[in-house]
Amino acid sequence: MDARSLKIAAAEEALSHVEHGMRLGIGTGSTADEFVRLLAEKVADGFAVQGVPTSERTARLCLELGVPLFSLDDLPELDLTIDGADEIDPQLCLIKGGGGAHLREKIVAAASERMIVIADETKLVDVLGAFPLPIEVMPFGLAATRRAVDKLAERLGLNGTILQRQRQGKDEPYITDGGHFLLDASFGRIPEAEALAEGLAAIPGVVEHGLFLNMADAAIIAAPAGVRTLTA
Ligand code: A5P
Repeated sequence: MDARSLKIAAAEEALSHVEHGMRLGIGTGSTADEFVRLLAEKVADGFAVQGVPTSERTARLCLELGVPLFSLDDLPELDLTIDGADEIDPQLCLIKGGGGAHLREKIVAAASERMIVIADETKLVDVLGAFPLPIEVMPFGLAATRRAVDKLAERLGLNGTILQRQRQGKDEPYITDGGHFLLDASFGRIPEAEALAEGLAAIPGVVEHGLFLNMADAAIIAAPAGVRTLTA
């Protein structure tokens, strides 16, 4: 089974949790894209859904494929969000933001009654941190914010490199949908994710980080042997 088939298998299973008329948060990334494609097929057959996209990228795909979209201001409470992840630990704590969308993803997930993560089994880890943690920061005061993140990491005994994300193939900063910069913090292991999350949230220049702790209710994991659902 190739990587794309696994993403489709997880997305198919997730679709079975979406009920007619639901207010649905729609995630970002290649796995979420597969979910959008399958959802669009159902919508074309008359299935009703009110989608709230977590990025401009997802909004474009939904519009192209005919999935009805609303803003979170139109629908401030959602029934369910389906989204991908970069890492998933045994408690279903996540690293997200590999696609640079974790700020909107977190706002949408927090507005949802339930969040279901879709991924292939390569995303499962014992301890978060091998995937570089995305940290969205204000362009203003970038150096001071970086310094504060460095000091926090030092205090928590986290060693690693923190790099500013660049636009692919360009020598320019990556700019998020919200107009901010991204830092990618490679710590290798984050044994105390809650302490790091709290510390990052307390730094004024940090807009949002990619640690999603105690937010996912279930994770649909696709492997060549089959699809399984893990619950928090
Ligand atoms: C987007 O910012 C991320 O949070 C994605 O959900 C995550 O990177 C998963 O993407 P893939 O499904 O492409 O692996």
